[in-house]
Amino acid sequence: MSIDSLLKTALIIGGGQGIGLGFVRQLLAQSDIDRVYATYRRVESAAELLAIDNPKLHCLQMDITDESQIAAVIQAIQAETKTLHYVINSAGVLHEGEMQPEKSLRHINSEQLLRYFQVNSIGAMLLFKQVQPLLKHDARSILATISAKVGSIGDNQIGGWYGYRASKTALNMFIRTTAIEYKRTCPNAILVALHPGTTATRLSQPFQRNVPPEKLFSVDRTVSQLFTVMDGLTPTDSGEFFSWDGSKIAW
Ligand SMILES: NC(=O)c1ccc[n+]([C@@H]2O[C@H](COP(=O)([O-])OP(=O)(O)OC[C@H]3O[C@@H](n4cnc5c(N)ncnc54)[C@H](OP(=O)(O)O)[C@@H]3O)[C@@H](O)[C@H]2O)c1
Repeated sequence: MSIDSLLKTALIIGGGQGIGLGFVRQLLAQSDIDRVYATYRRVESAAELLAIDNPKLHCLQMDITDESQIAAVIQAIQAETKTLHYVINSAGVLHEGEMQPEKSLRHINSEQLLRYFQVNSIGAMLLFKQVQPLLKHDARSILATISAKVGSIGDNQIGGWYGYRASKTALNMFIRTTAIEYKRTCPNAILVALHPGTTATRLSQPFQRNVPPEKLFSVDRTVSQLFTVMDGLTPTDSGEFFSWDGSKIAW
């Protein structure tokens, strides 16, 4: 076997900042990774990604709510390679401009609910559809989508955050259902939803006040923990929902 055939390629969605950018950095540092494709949405918030000077890195602009943009990214990758070994979807929204997670029923409005589903659930589903050809190969590959424990129905004891919670629940169903189809079409791909734990990023920033310091992870720590979980996955884990410590989370 040639050295080239041992080298791996990765695609990180939402690599512009936060956990996604952390994945990009750690993948670039791995000697068995040959190429990292990183997508970002807004140039303004992807300055750190775009400043990385590394020949392994290819940055592509993409809004996950637009299927034609996802298809264009996949086409650009297919022009260079036929195989991806890691696909990690870290794009997600909790608050954006005026949009804040709903504390109670009086904050519910359909526009905001639609936005949560559009980015956190439907966008991911379109990605699972479009990326499939790049996961049809003989090597082990991982398709992980960053979900959130608050999307667990069984674990929901405190309520609130209606749209974000439900959009992550829908995301979990989408990855579970896709995993069943991929078992036939891409049998070497392992598909999982991952809960990163509370991580110090822009997304969690307004909600960090009541989080004890030992429970607020740095991006680097979260990414290392999620790599440990992914490294331990076997084909029977496909379609499951894992926490950062490797434990399974109730649906
Ligand atoms: N941080 C936590 O404590 C925590 C806990 C549980 C789950 N999560 C999940 O972890 C994932 C990563 O979040 P994070 O904490 O790293 O937050 P973050 O720093 O806000 O990063 C979110 C990323 O998603 C991108 N994004 C948002 N809308 C998008 C769209 N329409 N198309 C493409 N990309 C889009 C953002 O791009 P822009 O920069 O252009 O906005 C940004 O790069 C999310 O799915 C989040 O729900 C985070």
